[in-house]
Amino acid sequence: MNNSFDVNKIRKDFPILEKKINGKPLVYFDNAATTQKPRQVIEKIQQYYTEMNSNIHRAVHTLSKTSTQEYYKVREIIKDFINAEYFEEIIFTRGTTESINMVAQTWGRANLKSGDEVIITEMEHHSNIVPWQMICEEKGAKLRIAPMTDNCELILEEYEKLLTEKTKIVSFTHISNTLGTVNPIKYMIDKAHSVGAKVLLDAAQSVQHKIIDVRALDCDFLAFSGHKIYGPTGIGVLYGKKSILEEMPPYQGGGDMILSVSFEKTEFNYLPFKYEAGTPNIAGTIGLGEALKYVQSIGLDTIDEYETKLLKHAAERLMEVEGLKILGNAKEKASVISFIFDNIHPNDLGSMIDLHGVAIRTGHHCTEPIMRKFNIPGTSRASFSFYNTIEEVDYFIESLKKVVKMLG
Ligand code: ALA
Repeated sequence: MNNSFDVNKIRKDFPILEKKINGKPLVYFDNAATTQKPRQVIEKIQQYYTEMNSNIHRAVHTLSKTSTQEYYKVREIIKDFINAEYFEEIIFTRGTTESINMVAQTWGRANLKSGDEVIITEMEHHSNIVPWQMICEEKGAKLRIAPMTDNCELILEEYEKLLTEKTKIVSFTHISNTLGTVNPIKYMIDKAHSVGAKVLLDAAQSVQHKIIDVRALDCDFLAFSGHKIYGPTGIGVLYGKKSILEEMPPYQGGGDMILSVSFEKTEFNYLPFKYEAGTPNIAGTIGLGEALKYVQSIGLDTIDEYETKLLKHAAERLMEVEGLKILGNAKEKASVISFIFDNIHPNDLGSMIDLHGVAIRTGHHCTEPIMRKFNIPGTSRASFSFYNTIEEVDYFIESLKKVVKMLG
């Protein structure tokens, strides 16, 4: 681990971590839902609005040129962050959900037909289920589901059995938001390609924890959200291989995605603008660029190593809590732990532990099929970031013991 990693110094970059909740210091363990923002990101957004606010691509005045340049720089930052080959492969979206919908509605509409198959997995988030259900229904294609074990690891033999010449696209998560399972993505991508299927990798829960190299992985599409990697809400990314994006029809129509418009015919713009209709989220994009620079300044290897330490410590100490069962015991896990009790509803637990200043997520985590598989209403989920500490984990465990004693 990078010797200069100092969690107390890092915490000073996150103003919200100084907040008290219900009179107690905030312990923020809901990082899988959204991450907190360092002051570098907050200040950059403020700087954008105080010093350069103006629309991009639309004027020759100085402010517009400045904001356009700042906006362009971020596409380069993202290209390097995920090791894409061309900046044209980086499309700005509102987030993972819009990125997946874009692929389903453009690539899917152009390429799927009756009898074709789309594969997802049993551990997907709703945003990687519903867009595929919608397009499959429209096209008469079939949605196939790769199952997982009771430990919440994908059953690779079953996944491979589903792959046939009918499979046109496979879309799966790198890391499960509910279970923390890390999937063997390279293996899965190669297997999908061996039957000629395209692959979309949902990196919403992984891009902030693991190094992603789209060229080494050879995924065809990749989606992630800015707000889960310390950037603003409302900005996300779709990466797509240039050759595929060039062939796809546009998503939404409007300004910026056109080269010329007449009432008779519209000529669409080049990549990446063809997929970016209308005034984009300029401040959000610039904020995201700053967030990625911040993450890079710490280093994803260092982040991964530190968060793994937090995860191991939390998993061990959770065993001290009477009646607690961890949901998801995959060998490869990221810093997300879901747990359940037979006799305590997760929402009661979530409200009670909030009184101790601890923020965790409770409920189905937008993964209702996982809840159905295990016949539970929801789980309690703690998810960690590099700004969390071992002391916070210990405080959480002690608070949890008190809450369980009261509710149990
Ligand atoms: N997908 C986000 C979560 O897991 C919202 O909480």
